[in-house]
Amino acid sequence: MSEFKTVRGMRDFLPEEAKTMRYIENTTRKVAELYGFKEIITPVVESYELLAAKSGEEVRSRMFAFKDLGDRQIALRPEFTASVARLVATTLRNEPRPFRLFSVGSVYRYDEPQKGRYREFWQSNYELMGSNRAEADAEILMLTNSLMEKAGLKSYAFKVGHVGVLRSMFKQEKLNEKAQNQAMQLMDKKLYDDAFNVIREAGASTQCLDGLNQLVKLRGTEIVDVVAKMKECVKDYEQSINAVENLSEILNLVSQCGCKINIIVDAGFARGLEYYTGMIFEVFVPDLDIALGGGGRYDRLIELFGGESTPAVGVAHGIDRIMLALQEQKVKSAKGPERRVVVIPINEKLRVEALKFACMLREAGVSTEVEVMGRKMAKALEDADKRGMDFALIVGEKELKEGAVVIKDLKEREQNTVQIEKILEAIKIQ
Ligand code: HAM
Repeated sequence: MSEFKTVRGMRDFLPEEAKTMRYIENTTRKVAELYGFKEIITPVVESYELLAAKSGEEVRSRMFAFKDLGDRQIALRPEFTASVARLVATTLRNEPRPFRLFSVGSVYRYDEPQKGRYREFWQSNYELMGSNRAEADAEILMLTNSLMEKAGLKSYAFKVGHVGVLRSMFKQEKLNEKAQNQAMQLMDKKLYDDAFNVIREAGASTQCLDGLNQLVKLRGTEIVDVVAKMKECVKDYEQSINAVENLSEILNLVSQCGCKINIIVDAGFARGLEYYTGMIFEVFVPDLDIALGGGGRYDRLIELFGGESTPAVGVAHGIDRIMLALQEQKVKSAKGPERRVVVIPINEKLRVEALKFACMLREAGVSTEVEVMGRKMAKALEDADKRGMDFALIVGEKELKEGAVVIKDLKEREQNTVQIEKILEAIKIQ
């Protein structure tokens, strides 16, 4: 039989990596709690129709979609937002607003595997539903900032834009929805010339093309300045001006509340997902050319799923990519247990005693392994040493008769006979 490998784009996480992943996951849960988001667990498999509606061509074409044995067209979730919107449109429809809902888990996209791009990856997802106000958008930006900070990232920045600026121009120009979506997808990939061609062919005026051409070049960290220039570019498009004002209001709230966020306003910024209607953003680290998280406002998805009209804003973070960034920035994030002890019986007859001591130590919260290979003392100690254990608790007949054990400090290379009731003390003090 040929050697089995993981399926392309799928990975195993060995203990060190798994520890870091879980550490980041725990941090995402702490942030959820801090911001009042309640965790929900939704299925990995959803109907294809639900996931495909408004996800955008990019995500749609990369879904793991198939028929189940009951002939249902289903897919592995490529994100959480559709599932959360489904819940709010159905089961939660009569619950009081706003909703603050958090999820964390694996998602699947048939992306081309490369550094930071996998086919199975983990997201932490936060949706704030029921408010159309700028403070809701500001909360999502601040929450993302808190997560990056708490995960231990040293340098990162936010790129922020507003799809309403471009969409409103396109709408006033009466461009059809398909051309609009296509242009946004191309702009997401920074293929601006192709995007211009699409909207030109769809009948956009020279004024629109000129405005757009200026917008895509407009970005910077001087928020007031960039916003003023954006307004100038869209001065003939009333709804676009409102969108710029909304963006400005959100960014003012964030900066005025004293939250130190490194923001670059990018007027031509677009995101692949089609459901966005307002502010959009991504967070990235300068040395990695990939987004660690992204989100934005989507005010119409829940009614599209048959629910009450519910404005919403949210974000998803790529846990794998946060881990990658932590590694690149050489941040040591996950701490192991404080002390690790191995219990070694000097002979077979003392196995039960060894297991009893292990139980006692674990009861006291000490990470404990039992020698399970039946090795001679010297070999077992050598192995414990190699694996960086802190103490060996050696169970011997002679000591047991005197109500004691031998404790060997593997770091300090000391050995003492310790009365059983003093074991915990010895391990903590030594
Ligand atoms: P997204 O930008 O498609 O947004 O994905 C969010 C994050 O998932 C990305 O910023 C990135 O860190 C990570 N990610 C995406 N693709 C991959 C991949 N192939 N491998 C590893 N990581 C990846 C969403 O999913 C929206 N649902 C966010 C949202 C929530 N908007 C509103 N609410």
